[in-house]
Amino acid sequence: MIYRALIRPALFRMDPERSHDLVLTVLDAAGPLWRGVPGPAAWADPRCAATVCGIPFPTPVGLAGGFDKAARALWAWPALGFGFVEVGTVTALPQPGNPRPRLFRLPEDQALINRLGFNSPGAEAVAARLAAARRRQARYPIPLGVNIGRSRTVPNERAVADYLFSLDRVHRHADFLVVNVSSPNTPGVRSLQEPAAIAALLDALARRNRALGEKPLFVKVAPDLDERELEGIAAAIEGRAHGLVATNTTVRRDGLRSRDRDEPGGLSGRPLGALATRTIRALFRLTRGRLPIIGVGGVFTAEDAYEKIKAGATLVEIYTGFVYGGPATPRRIVDGLGRLLRRDGFETLAQAVGAASR
Ligand SMILES: Cc1cc2nc3c(=O)[nH]c(=O)nc-3n(C[C@H](O)[C@H](O)[C@H](O)COP(=O)(O)O)c2cc1C
Repeated sequence: MIYRALIRPALFRMDPERSHDLVLTVLDAAGPLWRGVPGPAAWADPRCAATVCGIPFPTPVGLAGGFDKAARALWAWPALGFGFVEVGTVTALPQPGNPRPRLFRLPEDQALINRLGFNSPGAEAVAARLAAARRRQARYPIPLGVNIGRSRTVPNERAVADYLFSLDRVHRHADFLVVNVSSPNTPGVRSLQEPAAIAALLDALARRNRALGEKPLFVKVAPDLDERELEGIAAAIEGRAHGLVATNTTVRRDGLRSRDRDEPGGLSGRPLGALATRTIRALFRLTRGRLPIIGVGGVFTAEDAYEKIKAGATLVEIYTGFVYGGPATPRRIVDGLGRLLRRDGFETLAQAVGAASR
């Protein structure tokens, strides 16, 4: 209530990227206070808990990649009710990203368009932050994923070494890893989703991952792939990665009303919801439900999250829904999800996964 009536209007009067930066600065500054706030394990309906690749998740609602790219406000996320967090995208080389302005609000569509282009202090710096956070308190209370992407100046022919550099730096600080091959904002990255390219990249990453002490490796895909392309990805991933994140932002622009609808970049939020769910459903079928899918794209409410879970997602993540809905959003979704599971007679979240895709 307070968020929508007071805080959001103030933030939305500011430039979008500056307000994002301010939010992270404030959340980081409040760091010591957060540690007194009980995490979701203390309040969440136990039927919302999930175990994925052997990792216990107190709730299935996480913070999507790109919100806390450099692990600036780590302690805020469990306190705000997130069941897990995905830090990054982290690139091997420090890089500033694209020229500003590069983030736009589309309020009439409850959407965002961004072309940040992987602004990142680099894998070395993010690893140092994660190490420092760990020194302060031995155990981070929720699972922490780190998302890695390709540096802008590195061509795809040298992408493998670039991803390996980041993997080497962040691996020990992560509970799971996400390989981002689906950002529309770094030229060439999306072609790494082609079967031969993704297979070669994952072979190298899987080998290094095993050498470092194997952790779950997820691949984040675009919502703009057709059935044949998804088939290629599903086949290439078998035996090479442990799961999928579906989806990243879309380059499509259907039926938008807001002023900034024609800005180049990736579109997220409400208009992405159905496209992401379609991708989740297709991937669930293609992998015969054997690989966990983190569903992301247009989740604003418990109903949205439930739809993704029934389509085949084991966990969900939010970004744009958090921007529009504010700090109460993760808890609101989890509380509602518990009620929906109970209503439909599911005793565990796992029973609902893929219920609408079988
Ligand atoms: C401003 C912004 C920055 C993002 N940065 C990243 C990123 O660095 N890495 C990534 O994998 N996804 C990134 N994403 C995509 C989100 O993780 C998510 O896949 C997408 O926004 C769809 O979810 P949503 O509709 O809940 O926002 C970004 C999204 C936004 C809006």
